[in-house]
Amino acid sequence: MLSSLAAAALFTALAQADNTQHTLSIQQDAPSNATAVPADFFSFSWETAYLPSFDNDFSENIINSIYARMSKPIIIRVGGTSGDLIQVDLDQDETRRCVSGPSCPYSSQDTWSVGKSYFDGFRRFQNATMTFQAPMTPVDPEDNWLPNSMEYVRQAYNALGKERVNAIALGNEPDYYSYGVEQYVERALKVENQTIEMLGLEGEDRRIFELGDIGWTVLKQRGDDFGLHKVFTNDLNANGYGKYAAQHYYQTDVGGPYDNDALQDRLMNHHAIADRFPQIQKGIEYVHQEDSKIDFVISELGAALGVPPVSWAGGLGAGLWAVDLHLTAMSRGVKRVSNNMFEDAPDSFWIPNDEGQFTTGPSVQGIFPSAAFITDFVGKGDSLGKVVEVDVPGQPQDFSAFAMYDLQSEELARVALVNMKVWNENSNQARGNASVTLNVGNGVESVTVKRLHSDKGSAGVGFDQGGPEHNVTWAGEQWSFKIDEGKGHFPTGESVQETVAVMNGQVTVTVPDTEAVIIYIKGGLLGFLEQVFSA
Ligand SMILES: *[C@@H]1O[C@H](CO)[C@@H](O)[C@H](O)[C@H]1NC(C)=O
Ligand SMILES: *[C@@H]1O[C@H](CO)[C@@H](O)[C@H](O)[C@H]1NC(C)=O
Ligand SMILES: *[C@@H]1O[C@H](CO)[C@@H](O)[C@H](O)[C@H]1NC(C)=O
Ligand SMILES: *[C@@H]1O[C@H](CO)[C@@H](O)[C@H](O)[C@H]1NC(C)=O
Ligand SMILES: *[C@@H]1O[C@H](CO)[C@@H](O)[C@H](O)[C@H]1NC(C)=O
Repeated sequence: MLSSLAAAALFTALAQADNTQHTLSIQQDAPSNATAVPADFFSFSWETAYLPSFDNDFSENIINSIYARMSKPIIIRVGGTSGDLIQVDLDQDETRRCVSGPSCPYSSQDTWSVGKSYFDGFRRFQNATMTFQAPMTPVDPEDNWLPNSMEYVRQAYNALGKERVNAIALGNEPDYYSYGVEQYVERALKVENQTIEMLGLEGEDRRIFELGDIGWTVLKQRGDDFGLHKVFTNDLNANGYGKYAAQHYYQTDVGGPYDNDALQDRLMNHHAIADRFPQIQKGIEYVHQEDSKIDFVISELGAALGVPPVSWAGGLGAGLWAVDLHLTAMSRGVKRVSNNMFEDAPDSFWIPNDEGQFTTGPSVQGIFPSAAFITDFVGKGDSLGKVVEVDVPGQPQDFSAFAMYDLQSEELARVALVNMKVWNENSNQARGNASVTLNVGNGVESVTVKRLHSDKGSAGVGFDQGGPEHNVTWAGEQWSFKIDEGKGHFPTGESVQETVAVMNGQVTVTVPDTEAVIIYIKGGLLGFLEQVFSA
């Protein structure tokens, strides 16, 4: 009797799940390898043929809601596989018409014919600048490709207006073109020459092109001659007009399984993410050897190719992957990350319309609030900073930490903690947590903590698709098509944050499994003034 009670107690204790402890040692002043993060680091990417899908108030509200947290215009990349196949027909009345392809009109591999009104999509989003793509057609021969490409460039450029053109990409994933790298480079330089002539660009205005847009699979290779290296050694930047060098990145390939183990191994995993970065850093080095003025960007990012369930690839679990990936990228010198989406991609931040084959209509997905987390971590104006990844003893795969320092004073300003341990209703235990102790400096009396949270853990798909049990909030705010048409609202009526006391320069913060937090340090002059006025 006694022993079975003891066993029951023990079982209950196990079912209560784990409490992990992490003790972090944070440098109080910016280390020498801290990297300045651009104000426009966070970005979205839309498949070229699906630009009209986003030409609506819902998408504009969402863009403005993220832009409001930034101090430079948000950059939207319009490009992708469909962008090389697209045909411009200014006499066509329809905005777009799918003319051929493997699954017209549902895939990025379909060929579309677009009319004049297609380009109205570039006139919206006045708070954003855009990069768009000069179509290059992936196959040879193709007689009309250059005039067609120039017509697309002309129409897009005129619709945006000079000030809102951030860059013009030269094709997309040339590593998959049927012709070789020499012919690609020749075509790309032709597009550059004709574009600057057509648009009358002079001097530094000519440095407007995005080079490479290399497909993601090279990130899994370990050789030296790959992607960006190959195109740059073949003189892609011969004209010196390169503004960005771009690499694409998907975390997981087509195909399941899509269970909790796979979520932990493949997506919510700092090792799986960090493992791709030695190759990315090589790319950054090659590019800077060639031309130090070219910024390296990830111009197309996705959690998963194929059609995984939204609860796996578009919920809060994927949101924590996104947080870890962006913070890892910014700390390694990547200058922008563009999150790719269209209505049929289950890892999209939002679904813009009801035209998808696999999606349920206009909705904000559970991955979305991570965009607000990331832009708030980047900061705006005077709160922009320099970032480093913080060493976590034991190098766990399911936990990461990053520190952001003030640009001027170099003092610690905020710390992000990402607990990627998968938890959802299918976990056979109560939600565990990580108890994290870190040093925040002796002059600091308290810190403010904001959380990226869902009661459903990784499976939180957001209010629109899951109802009120599936809310995903950042600092108490959530976004919904049904409630606020993408503007954001606070379910409790106000933002949510906690104040945690600092003892002897140290603070302990609990981060439940499948949750991320930002700790705001009120040190420096602001903290001093607050202490004086509250005394
Ligand atoms: C953290 O987890 C432990 C072990 O399950 C639990 O006892 C504790 O209450 C949790 N703390 C918080 C703040 O949730
Ligand atoms: C930055 O430097 C620290 C030691 O000074 C090192 O542990 C860390 O790995 C470096 N970070 C990067 C991204 O190189
Ligand atoms: C730009 O964004 C701000 C902040 O979200 C918003 O108030 C304003 O209406 C937006 N302007 C346009 C033209 O959309
Ligand atoms: C592009 O223009 C430059 C400068 O006029 C010229 O040297 C180069 O041959 C041109 N390249 C192509 C592919 O037309
Ligand atoms: C989820 O959000 C909705 C809409 O704001 C709200 O009515 C509901 O109370 C929230 N649910 C929970 C559990 O907080």
